[in-house]
Amino acid sequence: MPPGSTAITAVVVLAAGAGTRMKSTLPKVLHPIAGRPLLWHALTTAQQLDPEHLIAVIGHGRDAVGAYLGDALPTVRTAIQHQQLGTGHAVACGLDGLGRLTGTVLVTYGDVPLLRAETLQALAAEHEFAGNAVTVLTAHVADPTGYGRIVRDADGALAAIVEHKDATADVRAITEINSGVYAFDAEVLADGLTRLTTANTQGERYLTDVVGIARGDGRRVGALVADDAAETEGVNDRVQLAELTRVLNARLVRAAQLSGVTVLDPATTWIHADVRIEPDAVIHRNTSLEAGTTIGAGAVIGPDTTLISCTIGAGATVLRSHAQQAVIGPDATVGPFSFLRPGTELAAGAKVGAYVEVKNSRIGPDAKVPHLSYVGDTTMGAHVNFGAGSITANYDGQRKFRTVIGDGSFVGTNTTLIAPVTLGPGAYTAAGSTVTDDVPAGALAVGRGRQAVKPGWVAARKPGSAMDAAARLSGAAVEPGATEHESGWAHEASGSAREADAAELESGPVSDRDTGPDQGEHTGKAAPA
Ligand code: UD1
Ligand code: CA
Repeated sequence: MPPGSTAITAVVVLAAGAGTRMKSTLPKVLHPIAGRPLLWHALTTAQQLDPEHLIAVIGHGRDAVGAYLGDALPTVRTAIQHQQLGTGHAVACGLDGLGRLTGTVLVTYGDVPLLRAETLQALAAEHEFAGNAVTVLTAHVADPTGYGRIVRDADGALAAIVEHKDATADVRAITEINSGVYAFDAEVLADGLTRLTTANTQGERYLTDVVGIARGDGRRVGALVADDAAETEGVNDRVQLAELTRVLNARLVRAAQLSGVTVLDPATTWIHADVRIEPDAVIHRNTSLEAGTTIGAGAVIGPDTTLISCTIGAGATVLRSHAQQAVIGPDATVGPFSFLRPGTELAAGAKVGAYVEVKNSRIGPDAKVPHLSYVGDTTMGAHVNFGAGSITANYDGQRKFRTVIGDGSFVGTNTTLIAPVTLGPGAYTAAGSTVTDDVPAGALAVGRGRQAVKPGWVAARKPGSAMDAAARLSGAAVEPGATEHESGWAHEASGSAREADAAELESGPVSDRDTGPDQGEHTGKAAPA
């Protein structure tokens, strides 16, 4: 409880209603907003007041709602309202079993996600300061249709709350509404709840009638007008869900900005309620930070990036990428167009570049996977270069296997590493290799067919083609049989391409090029000594 604030005996959060207008199989209060169910927002707000008892009254969808609460908010007491007989009945269900309470009891709704703890605290403080038996949080709204109206007496004091359905045209003209949030003296509430009747249009036990009962008993009742009516708005359908999501998001973006985070385009930046961002991070447009993601100081995220349950180190960069349950180390760089799946861990300074997918793998410090790769179930050491187009073949159709790549290894372009396989430190693979066996430290692995060169093949097999024309234009000797490399294909010039290919395979490699261990020219790099 914040210092100097009012002690709260109980907060009762009503969440038993059907939520029919959501037209959903998911109970309304479990619909997420800023990444957490509506009910989570209502309850965590209440928790900030540190009440002795925090009760959620559940009914419709109680199996799912109860299971969620047991999991996510186990300290919240749940009370079941089997039949929705009205808000008064719901509060009575909530207090049932708590014994005789004294002090202040607050009532709020599970479908009102924007209400701030400060506002509840102000309500409790006003309630105590004024010595009220009941204090109602009210709001002035443009369209009060459907709400209970705040009827004040000649002195402007709260006289009664009249439900829309029970109201005369005069009362319906009132634009001050009951938000449904109240502070009650516990004993007045308990007594009032036993005296509610169903003598109203809806045949319900109205919590609002406690106001009239208390006043009739000569108790003091009062109202506090909310500064921001939006805070008291509930979600009834998916249009309101989207509207309130935007309002809540704007609040979260603003809080991030005021704490030192640069958010370039608040309208297209989405920040979940449980996200933490350190100062001097920069968030570019069209970026969604979700589900407990944390962003380190000075990190640059986006544009067009979604991070779900990720941990991003200080100074890291994530550009146009999608990542879930990934840990990205300090100063690491990701993207554009990277896909980091659960279990991805990038050490400090690591790079995962364009069109790269990583799953359940650790990429070591300063290691690079710069272009067009798939890395799955892999442990990659420090300073590894994982060449363009290289992939780990981690799945045999039934089981997954690990790949281990030692520090300082060089995986040549378009290498396929068939797991399980281990490359020792400083190992080297020739471009285009399929690596099935372990490669010791400092060794080169070459795993590919040798190149065949068939001079004059185009002129023989594709005479008059664009290729033939281009070859002739170059002035090179391109006639069939023009060189000593002729190897038994030219006489088949009239046969099918398939026959020619078969002939090539039989005749074997014809290139003069050495495919022995000194492969520097093949990888385009100097071979290790
Ligand atoms: C209630 C108030 C109305 C106020 C409005 C604000 C009463 C009689 N009226 O309207 O003055 O302007 O809220 O939104 O209190 N609920 C239960 N059990 C029930 C009935 C409701 O748990 O038996 C819960 C609902 O899930 C919801 C909240 O109480 O979260 C309000 O119920 P709803 O039916 O939306 O409000 P009204 O009763 O129409
Ligand atoms: Ca409502």
